[in-house]
Amino acid sequence: MKKNENIHPIFDQLLQRSDKEQLLKQKAVVIWMTGLSGSGKSTVAKGLEQLLHQKGFLTKVLDGDNIRSGINNNLGFSEEDRAENIRRIGEVANLFLQCGVVTICSFVSPTKAIRQVAKDIVGEADFLEIYINAPIEVCEQRDVKGLYKKARAGLIKNFTGIDAPFEAPENGLEIRTDKTTIEEAVEQVFNYIQDKISING
Ligand code: ADX
Repeated sequence: MKKNENIHPIFDQLLQRSDKEQLLKQKAVVIWMTGLSGSGKSTVAKGLEQLLHQKGFLTKVLDGDNIRSGINNNLGFSEEDRAENIRRIGEVANLFLQCGVVTICSFVSPTKAIRQVAKDIVGEADFLEIYINAPIEVCEQRDVKGLYKKARAGLIKNFTGIDAPFEAPENGLEIRTDKTTIEEAVEQVFNYIQDKISING
């Protein structure tokens, strides 16, 4: 028997995304922030959530450390587990998108192939990729969670930027968090998405 044989989706009988967007007076997108651990993704996500909330947008932040302590708490950092991590997050982000919510995702999502998985689930038109970039030396110096120190000491394996790869995106917005303040970074993201989330945009 095929895996999905006894599944009967009712998507076509439910209210549509456009109905939800009308109710919320906004357009939904998935803002996908990628970058090294310590590059500032979560900080920008938090700032952006605050700003959008003040401006009357309904948002949801999905963040690596949060998701990995809940829905994805059975996944590690092998290439395979990272791909499954991002696949599930892509599906969750898509649920929020279909509900009209401005969905802010902040995940290392280190390779083009992994980000493509999320992009394919969400759909390219609604997937706004943002590279939160700080040189590895800066991330390592910040070492907010003490993880670089552990990775250098060999206590964490497959650490992105140390002994696991990070491929920078080629398209989309790039923000150098070592050269901007948090406020400036948040403003840059807001300027980039404003038209895409505004009902008259
Ligand atoms: S991803 O690679 O699968 O996209 P995700 O964004 O969910 O990663 O989680 C990254 C967070 O997990 C980092 O910010 C860091 O706090 C923590 N972490 C623990 N181990 C690793 C590791 N080996 N590589 C990268 N991040 C790690």
